[in-house]
Amino acid sequence: MMKITKAIFPVAGLGTRFLPATKANPKEMLPIVDKPLIQYAVEEAVHAGITELIFVTNSSKRAIEDHFDSNFELEATLQERGKKELLDIVKGILPEGVSCAYIRQKSPQGLGHAVLCAKQLVMNEPFAVLLADDLIDGGPQSCLAQMVACFKDLQTSIVAVEQIHPSETGKYGIVDTGASTDQMARLSGIIEKPHPEQAPSNLGVVGRYILTPRIFSQLENTKRGSNGEIQLTDAIAKLLQEEPVYAYRFQGKRYDCGSKLGYLEATVAYALKHPELAGDFKRSLESLVA
Ligand code: G1P
Repeated sequence: MMKITKAIFPVAGLGTRFLPATKANPKEMLPIVDKPLIQYAVEEAVHAGITELIFVTNSSKRAIEDHFDSNFELEATLQERGKKELLDIVKGILPEGVSCAYIRQKSPQGLGHAVLCAKQLVMNEPFAVLLADDLIDGGPQSCLAQMVACFKDLQTSIVAVEQIHPSETGKYGIVDTGASTDQMARLSGIIEKPHPEQAPSNLGVVGRYILTPRIFSQLENTKRGSNGEIQLTDAIAKLLQEEPVYAYRFQGKRYDCGSKLGYLEATVAYALKHPELAGDFKRSLESLVA
């Protein structure tokens, strides 16, 4: 029985959709209310039992490393000023027993290439991949925790999927699960960003994966695909010819924070349930739209 203890966070993307905000600041550091997107993804992973976080970064993503490191000056100042609550927030970003590793993706060659960069750190174990752009409010059990629970039974690769609008297949990896409407369905195919006429279904992959280590040899033999990049989807398409891969319709609400609209929706939704802000923010919103 294999346990999932490692997660890869591919964070080397340029974030061009949010320029100029992302010129000097990683897109994963954009906040939803008071926490950066990457912290939500890390919290989800930790909640699912992950203890080793592997970030695939590039030279402009140092802020992410700093965010998960201790900041002696800030901590000392908060301590001195008796700001206990803030000090706890800053110190609690990474729980005890969770470690971080950073590896550089030297050039932007796609999600598949980013995952392959982490091969030496993952070694021969199943692992998770989380894309921080996809913020998922899973409710009591996070999306990745739901998937880890499924992995305990299946011991195979699992991709999270959701129903998307038929006109939007060109934005996602699209799975083929035949006629199955089950929450967990075996994949017979997967294709990266097809035109709506070529799409096998309206089930799009969202940024949560559990993968067996066999994906690495598939990635090593994957040629450039959609957008001239090495696509994780193409490697999964080859993997499912050798071993079962499942699509999992997760419970919860996903926000596409890679788009401005999704980002704003997430901001509003999270502000409306923020313990300090909810009431006042609701009133402000109401007066804005009145
Ligand atoms: C990536 C994957 C795609 C997946 C999506 C989920 O695309 O390549 O298969 O559906 O993430 O967010 P990207 O959004 O990086 O273009």
